[in-house]
Amino acid sequence: MRNSMKGRIELLKVDITLLAVEAIVNAANSSLLGGGGVDGAIHRKAGPELLGECRTLGGCDTGDAKITKGYNLPADYVIHTVGPVYRGGLYGESRLLQSCYRRCFEVANENRIKSIAFPSISTGAYGYPISEASSIALSETLSQLMRFPGIGRVIFALFSDADLDIYRKVLKGS
Ligand code: AR6
Repeated sequence: MRNSMKGRIELLKVDITLLAVEAIVNAANSSLLGGGGVDGAIHRKAGPELLGECRTLGGCDTGDAKITKGYNLPADYVIHTVGPVYRGGLYGESRLLQSCYRRCFEVANENRIKSIAFPSISTGAYGYPISEASSIALSETLSQLMRFPGIGRVIFALFSDADLDIYRKVLKGS
């Protein structure tokens, strides 16, 4: 069972803004009005209309997700989620990070999205240790794939060889 879920996950070292999947996930902040890191890259590539749509959304809580169109991106949609800022691990960070992944899958399913790419949420500016974050990302993804058989393809778009290596090891052990 777990294996058929794993077969729907791909780990790639790639700039997420280049991926022609139905939806890419943005690691945003609660304003949804742009920022640095992957958020900045997504807004640059999508163009100013993305910010225009984001302004209508009224922000987003940590652990939640909201969808927009993809504008000039190859992806049709962007699912914006807000990961937790890591403050040592005792402030509910793991539950919030897990919620980000769960909510992205729920929003994808509501919009009949069948292929989705994630960055490594919270592990850049928000400081979440990648080994812990990757196990939360992958275990929650495996659970959500069980729940949503229509989502056939999940890519983790990782930004360094080191990050890719960690995700590979964690997925292998899952
Ligand atoms: N494609 C894939 N991954 C990327 C890309 C890209 N083009 N660019 C960076 N990454 P971060 P966070 C990786 O900081 O930790 C923003 O300012 C990056 O190497 O983008 O959730 C928001 O507005 C790292 O592995 O997101 C928020 O204020 C991962 O994406 C805040 O940062 C996440 O790093 C969110 O922080």
